[in-house]
Amino acid sequence: MMVDIHCHILAGLDDGASSLEESVEMAEMAIADGITHVVATPHSNGEYQFDPQRVRERRDELQDRVGNRLTLATGCDFHLSYENVQDIKTNIAKYTLNQKNYLLVEFADFAIPPSADDTLHQLHLLGLSPVITHPERNRLLRAQPDRLRRWLHQGCYVQITAQSLLGKWGKGTQKQVEEWLDEDIVHFFASDAHNATTRPLKLAEAREVVVQRRGESIAKALFEENPLAAFEGRALPYEPQQPDIAARAPRAGRRKRFIFF
Ligand SMILES: [Fe+2]
Repeated sequence: MMVDIHCHILAGLDDGASSLEESVEMAEMAIADGITHVVATPHSNGEYQFDPQRVRERRDELQDRVGNRLTLATGCDFHLSYENVQDIKTNIAKYTLNQKNYLLVEFADFAIPPSADDTLHQLHLLGLSPVITHPERNRLLRAQPDRLRRWLHQGCYVQITAQSLLGKWGKGTQKQVEEWLDEDIVHFFASDAHNATTRPLKLAEAREVVVQRRGESIAKALFEENPLAAFEGRALPYEPQQPDIAARAPRAGRRKRFIFF
């Protein structure tokens, strides 16, 4: 059983599924792939408004169509904007995965404000466990990975897009995932599916790559046990200790880049 904590399976809410029929197609794809639980996580950002009532209605509609072959829950692809953070303070469960305590957090590709560290800390103080979504696809985080490691020390988690490991987001992104997998700083894989074609709701192929690279028990942790724990609001069963950042020597041979956060 695999659990997908990040996907855009519901129609008419964001740039995900274009119709209920495509939602059903994505659900069938997930079932065929061996996925048992899916958290539908529409965007909440400057482009897409997040309405939990509508999200819940779309979930129910899809659940009716697929029956008990797939368990559907709701969450949010939460953009770390000032407005969103103010709003979550008034209603935590509005945005969290399956209305528990894990929260997907996405950053813009082109800028991560210096205040992000403090904002993530504020989310902690609310009792939330932020899950940083697909940092491997963010060129700023790839250029300054110690920033991500600091967030891990703060108690954040890392979710990688399954397709990134298969090279669908380019060679550089794939290499980055391999590196972070080997460093044990990955907690979840998820599909981040948007449709039934180019961004599919599949995990099995990436799981097999993790089995080959890190073995069955880590693959099971990253595709099944950890996502299920987040789904149910429990502590993660697999949470490797992070080395002290200050003790790490800078990586030799890495090109210097001038990118400001
Ligand atoms: Fe997403």
